[in-house]
Amino acid sequence: MNMLDPRPIGVFDSGIGGLTVLAAIHKLMPWENTIYLGDTARVPYGTKSPEVVTRYALNNASFLAQKGIKLLVVACNTASSVALPALEKVLHIPVIGVIEPGARRALQVSKKKVIGVLGTEGTIASRAYDNALISLEPRVKVFPKPCPLFVPLAEEGWGDHPVAFQVANEYLRSWSKENRLDSLILGCTHYPLLVPAIAKAVGPGTQLVDSASAVAEAVLALLNKSEEGPEPNPLPRGTREYFVTDVPERFSHVGQRFLGGPLGEIHQVDLMV
Ligand code: DGL
Repeated sequence: MNMLDPRPIGVFDSGIGGLTVLAAIHKLMPWENTIYLGDTARVPYGTKSPEVVTRYALNNASFLAQKGIKLLVVACNTASSVALPALEKVLHIPVIGVIEPGARRALQVSKKKVIGVLGTEGTIASRAYDNALISLEPRVKVFPKPCPLFVPLAEEGWGDHPVAFQVANEYLRSWSKENRLDSLILGCTHYPLLVPAIAKAVGPGTQLVDSASAVAEAVLALLNKSEEGPEPNPLPRGTREYFVTDVPERFSHVGQRFLGGPLGEIHQVDLMV
């Protein structure tokens, strides 16, 4: 498995949000073939139990594995928080979640090691970021905060609407000051779309950490590490396939904001078990 291996990189999320991670992969490795699966019939994962999210994640991974992927990116913070061990157990390819790359990046940028984590209720309740940060840096202070209203705001296209600024203020302004955060992990695929509102609420002293670009770098590092031949440069652009588990119209329309451009053809699949 390496960059010259033409098998696609498989990426899944509960729905649209993982397109922010896919966009970062496309930006860093435009030559890679990718297959994205958005589980739009079962979204959201953020409010569901770890058992149910794990079942859905295994189901999504099995669909992508059948497509012959060379590695799997779990582009959903909630699924990465609870389902990685189960996925690693059944798959015979590398699996990259968003938690560890995000935690590593936060520790790199944080000077005082006082780090906030924003996420869905499921991600925050799992303590996955807390555990990853503490295992990498035992002296770190972690302050987790669920922000459930951010996901619908991003999906509505209201990431920079005055309402988003107001909600971010309510959630974050006094909390970030009280805890003297010097960095803040955007631990949900949707939150990069609210960066201006989140940045304004926490102020310039707190650096935002987007796990999407950290994940793309982790994928590149993994492919480089296993590379055997010289890198042919420049490589042609890879193929990009999209699958969803509900009708594609909304995904196509809203997804453009998350991907940062139009999506190609989107196929609907039935994964219900
Ligand atoms: N993709 C999810 C995450 O990153 C957010 C949306 C959901 O709740 O399913 O946690």
